Amino acid sequence: MDRFREMTERVKENINEYRFIHTLGVANMALSLAMCYGLDPEKAYMAGLLHDCAKKFPDEERVGFCLAHGIEITDAEQEEPSLLHGKMGAYYAGHDYGVTDPEVLDAIAYHTTGYPGMGTYTILIYIADYLEPNRHAMPNLNELRQLAYRDMDECAYRIARDTVEYLKKQTDKKVDPMTERTYHYFKEMLKHE
Ligand SMILES: [Fe+2]
Ligand SMILES: [Fe+2]
Repeated sequence: MDRFREMTERVKENINEYRFIHTLGVANMALSLAMCYGLDPEKAYMAGLLHDCAKKFPDEERVGFCLAHGIEITDAEQEEPSLLHGKMGAYYAGHDYGVTDPEVLDAIAYHTTGYPGMGTYTILIYIADYLEPNRHAMPNLNELRQLAYRDMDECAYRIARDTVEYLKKQTDKKVDPMTERTYHYFKEMLKHE
């Protein structure tokens, strides 16, 4: 993983320590999942390493940045600009870190909400972001960590379901419609009640 040394240093300079530790957790979990499923470990690690690279950007400047750089904004993102850190991360990954692989860029862009029809690497980062070992807040984490290595689609379904349920219980948080669509996509695909 020597080629990632410079990338890692740059990411470290651009996010706080807490986020950097989380980032390494995501990159390493993405790597191990890639090994488990016979995917490209370097692509997975790179997507994990860069997924939150735009996290530090001030929320109040996100909409302006996206408009200026041709990044599409949904109504939900307009209302909750922190959601844009994924798409902005993909922009930086492409322009500042020299990433050209569309699967890596897509995984970075949609790691928070996922979307119906998301590809394998996007599912992988969606899962790793939620389950990496430094995460503690959500329920069922250990069960889901086991499931991640047995069935990625089922695991993504459970994460989307838990996220929707959790957000619905919070009075100060809204469920992003895309998270809800991701949940229904997997529910239908896996024929769950
Ligand atoms: Fe994130
Ligand atoms: Fe993250």
